[in-house]
Amino acid sequence: MPKLTKEQITLAVKNGDFIKVTGSRRNLKTHEYYEHIADLLELDEVQALKEFRHHIMTTRYQHSLNVSYYNYRLCRMLGLDAASAARAGLLHDLYFYETRHYTRRKPGIRHARYHPMVALEHAQELLPLNEREQDMIEKHMWPVTLSRPRYAETYVITLVDKYCAVIEFLLPQPGRLVQWVVRRRDARKIRKYE
Ligand SMILES: [Fe+2]
Ligand SMILES: [Fe+2]
Repeated sequence: MPKLTKEQITLAVKNGDFIKVTGSRRNLKTHEYYEHIADLLELDEVQALKEFRHHIMTTRYQHSLNVSYYNYRLCRMLGLDAASAARAGLLHDLYFYETRHYTRRKPGIRHARYHPMVALEHAQELLPLNEREQDMIEKHMWPVTLSRPRYAETYVITLVDKYCAVIEFLLPQPGRLVQWVVRRRDARKIRKYE
């Protein structure tokens, strides 16, 4: 099969014929991974994550897909429960507000500790979750979330989540990254003279 160009992939992604993760040009629709999450991708709540920006450079949907896929790959390599890893990865940030708009809902609870609880609540409303999936969603921010992971898969997702945050910020669009740095610099200058 001939390799698709970047433009062809972008078009195929727009048409919904292709799903990809940051850092790879592989069409996940043709990967065994896809069968584990295909039902979740059809949920309106998961699709709604496309509306929210995440880690500055991407959407929460793309981030969730990234975590889901890399979590699946790593857990599979380690002989762990890869199917649960894929599903929990896709649902681990299932919350519906812009992170930057977060105001403390309860005194003393930071967003980093709060949103895993919200994501778990939303996910449980949508479908039954096994204990590993619950643990992965609830504690993916560990050690910020104080209670320790119960399963090896949860330790894996804590690492994968952070890895994805880094590649999402650095890999996709160096041009946008430069723009972001310039905007921040200009905003700082303006604040200095106000
Ligand atoms: Fe998160
Ligand atoms: Fe995340």
